[in-house]
Amino acid sequence: MNLSAADQPQKPRLVILISGSGSNMVAIADAVRSGDIEADIAAVICNRPEAAGLQKARDRDIETVTLDHKEFGSRDAFDFALMRKIDDYDPDLVILAGFMRILTADFVRHYQGRMLNIHPSLLPKYQGLNTHQRALEAGDTEHGVTVHFVTEELDGGPNVIQAVVAVTEDDDPVALQQRVQTQEHVIYPIAVKWFVSGRLSMKEGTALLDGKELPEQGLRLEA
Ligand code: GAR
Repeated sequence: MNLSAADQPQKPRLVILISGSGSNMVAIADAVRSGDIEADIAAVICNRPEAAGLQKARDRDIETVTLDHKEFGSRDAFDFALMRKIDDYDPDLVILAGFMRILTADFVRHYQGRMLNIHPSLLPKYQGLNTHQRALEAGDTEHGVTVHFVTEELDGGPNVIQAVVAVTEDDDPVALQQRVQTQEHVIYPIAVKWFVSGRLSMKEGTALLDGKELPEQGLRLEA
């Protein structure tokens, strides 16, 4: 029996928010294209018109939207416009992929349990900026990256998955950032795949995988 397009079950819909080079968006788009993630990318939305990631999305035939935060008078006004734009695409999951904005509480609450972020540190260590520099200055022997659900606390929702990277004696922030970013492109598609296949959820502030509570640091991959 052949199903017509209208009879096909709808795939989960993703909206990806970016601000910069979009390499995590590309990693997720590649996993969608290869069929590893069974979902549709409804749109890539970007708050910086000059971001290189926009062209990478267009090159992959993904619809793009630019919403320049500088054209809005307040954080609330921008977040409200962004929320309306996202909701036009009716996403099952909103993916923050290097989206460098602090989000209002109303925005975060609206997507509670269906918004993921990637942050370049082993959260809860080093929330905020300059994470690689800070890990080096602290003399850490391991560093890494975390995918987590987004809650109202900046870089603070429940962890889903972490990749751990060993810090070497002659490391510098650029070299460390590159090794961490390689791992970002491994773990973000895994987390998205878990979510769209129904394995990953957030309940009462806790991340669950296959119905079981994930440990506080999330599932840990040693690179
Ligand atoms: C990534 O390294 C991501 O971890 C970081 O921004 C970069 C975006 O790169 N995110 C944060 O710092 C969020 N607090 P990309 O545009 O190439 O994906």
